[in-house]
Amino acid sequence: MNIEIKKMNKNHLEEIKENLETEFDDFWNYNILKEELSSDSSKYIVAISKNEVIGFAGIKFALDQVDIMNIVTRKNYRNKGVGTLLLRELISICKEFKANSIFLEVSEDNEPAIKLYKKLGFENVGIRKNYYKDKNGIVMRYIAEDK
Ligand SMILES: CC(C)(COP(=O)(O)OP(=O)(O)OC[C@H]1O[C@@H](n2cnc3c(N)ncnc32)[C@H](O)[C@@H]1OP(=O)(O)O)[C@@H](O)C(=O)NCCC(=O)NCCS
Repeated sequence: MNIEIKKMNKNHLEEIKENLETEFDDFWNYNILKEELSSDSSKYIVAISKNEVIGFAGIKFALDQVDIMNIVTRKNYRNKGVGTLLLRELISICKEFKANSIFLEVSEDNEPAIKLYKKLGFENVGIRKNYYKDKNGIVMRYIAEDK
């Protein structure tokens, strides 16, 4: 599969607007994403295959720390390496901007996401009790300067 990673713009978001809830999971809100795309402290990327958006991901900068805000692959493209490409690109953007640590939070039952983060070097650093309704959130960190 030929996959291109690009900077995400508003046209990409408009393209997937109608499919956000059904194909990219229901917790990505169009209005929040739209705001994030125009924020100076955020950076968003898309994965494109055959002119179609098949995934996107974004980070937010706060001083020398970065938080991963979103990472999602279109449902019928999952487990084919798209998430790995997106996360690798986010890590390299963070290094480019000399961020020391990258943080994220993931629900304890989200096995695909936890495996993806561990595969690329993220480590558990804490638990947030009941962060996702009745599920705990795992806080994970990637230390950029070591790697
Ligand atoms: C998490 C997510 C982005 C991973 O994207 P993806 O494109 O499927 O990721 P990849 O194909 O690169 O797979 C990465 C690793 O995840 C693991 N993985 C992927 N799908 C999996 C599944 N269904 N079950 C178990 N592990 C899985 C594998 O370990 C895989 O690495 P490997 O193939 O080298 O073994 C995707 O599942 C998704 O969009 N989930 C919904 C949104 C979400 O939960 N985002 C994270 C919020 S914190």
